[in-house]
Formats: sequence, structure tokens, C-alpha cells
Amino acid sequence: SRLWLIVPAAGVGKRVGGTCPKQYLEVAGRPVLAHTLARLHQSFPEARLCLCLAPDDDWFDPALVPFTDWQRVAGGAERVHSVVNALAAVAAQGAPDDLVLVHDVARPCVSADDLSRLYNAALASPDGALLASPVADTIKRDDGQGAVANTEDRRGLWQAQTPQAFRFALLQEALARALAPDGIGVGRITDEASAVEALGRAPRLVAGRRDNIKITHPEDLRLAELILAGDAVLRDL
Ligand code: CTP
Ligand code: MG
Repeated sequence: SRLWLIVPAAGVGKRVGGTCPKQYLEVAGRPVLAHTLARLHQSFPEARLCLCLAPDDDWFDPALVPFTDWQRVAGGAERVHSVVNALAAVAAQGAPDDLVLVHDVARPCVSADDLSRLYNAALASPDGALLASPVADTIKRDDGQGAVANTEDRRGLWQAQTPQAFRFALLQEALARALAPDGIGVGRITDEASAVEALGRAPRLVAGRRDNIKITHPEDLRLAELILAGDAVLRDL
């Protein structure tokens, strides 16, 4: 069985703002998308990549893609629709037990060690696996009026990251069910695992580094710059 990589990169980056979608902003000398794809390629050079891009994307340049085996897929209205479009491409060429690893283009700092641990966990788990980190902050719920309603019990809580990886047949069934009229619905499908969990499955939690940040807000660009520059220094030692 083979490995498929799905990289959703069809967002507009509204929260970061800027003159182009955040995946094309330069960080540590290269567009975010180039960093993300380079790290995936370094760990999985033989995998086939499905890159989800907005149909009207004017910034994409195929020279940014280091994979020999890759295809462009049309992004959808929401992230989950982009992933579903990519799964249709996998369906046409893949097998039910092929492993599908989904990684947001907006996480360019993912480490080779985490990629390898996540991949091995997903290979060994019938319910798939995801990178995540234990919640470190105290979590408050608000009362809707700007004051605290209560403090949540953070014990056992994790922050989900990507990548997340599942057998193709399981992920396809999970997303189809979640999007069906009686499914959990788009608003609750914030990652692949949430759809798989709705089937009663239990994806493995793989503790990932906390510097696998998602570039979401403007200040995250500076953080990513520091993390990537730090990695470059360590590589050259
Ligand atoms: N994404 C996608 N298709 C969409 C929406 C998002 O492929 N219709 C991708 C983004 O490109 C990103 C990932 O899903 O890599 C996570 O989404 P998010 O961080 O929300 O990125 P954006 O949607 O681009 O940002 P924003 O929500 O601030 O507009
Ligand atoms: Mg978004």
C-alpha cells in the first residue's frame, strides 16, 4: 500500500490579512508553502501529493513543489471540502488500505521526528493518528458577556495539530458521513479526526512538538520566522 499526502492550501488567510494568502507570504526567505512542502518531501520523498489550491489562485508556482509525483486539486468552500476533493483524486488511483496523511500548508514548522512518529503510529492504528499537544494553559469558558462562567478541567485535554493520518477507506467514509444531512456538519468538522471520532473510532494521540504552530494571526509569522531560522542554525552546526 502507498502513502498519499493531502495538503489543504486553498484558504485566503483572512485573519493574517496581507496582500496575498498566507501560504505565499515569505518567511525565512521562502513562501510558507515552500517550507511546508520541503519538510513533507524530506520525510516522504516517494509519496504522492494532492495539493488543494483555490481555482483562482494567482500566486501558485509549480516550481515551489519538490515532489515528482503530485497533482493539483481544486479547493472547496471550507477546508473539509478541499480535503474531500483531494480524496476523490485518491479514490480514482488509490486502494482502500492506502495511508492518507493530511497536513495544513499553514504549519511549515513540522519536524521530521514528529512526521515519522505520526506516520508510524498511523500505520499501526486501525483508527488513524494525529499530532497533538497537552493543553498547558488554564481554560476559561465565558458567560457571553465578557466575564468568566467557569474554568474547564484541562486534565486530559489536548490541542489537535496536523498532520493527521488514516487509511483511505476510513477517512472517506468518515467525511462522507459527517457531511451527510444527519452528520455532525461542516461547523464541527474542524479536523479529519473529528469526523473519524463521529464514527465511534478512536484515533491515536501522538504528542507533537509545541513549535508545530499554525500560522493563523499576523504575529504567528514572526514566530514561524524564528522557529525556522532556529532550525536552520541547528542544521548547519
Ligand atoms: N483551507 C483550504 N480550503 C479552504 C479553507 C482552508 O484548503 N476552503 C486550508 C488553508 O489553506 C490552511 C488550512 O486549510 O492550510 C487551515 O485553515 P486556516 O488556518 O483557517 O487557513 P485560512 O482559511 O487560509 O485562514 P483564515 O481562516 O484566517 O481565512
Ligand atoms: Mg480558515
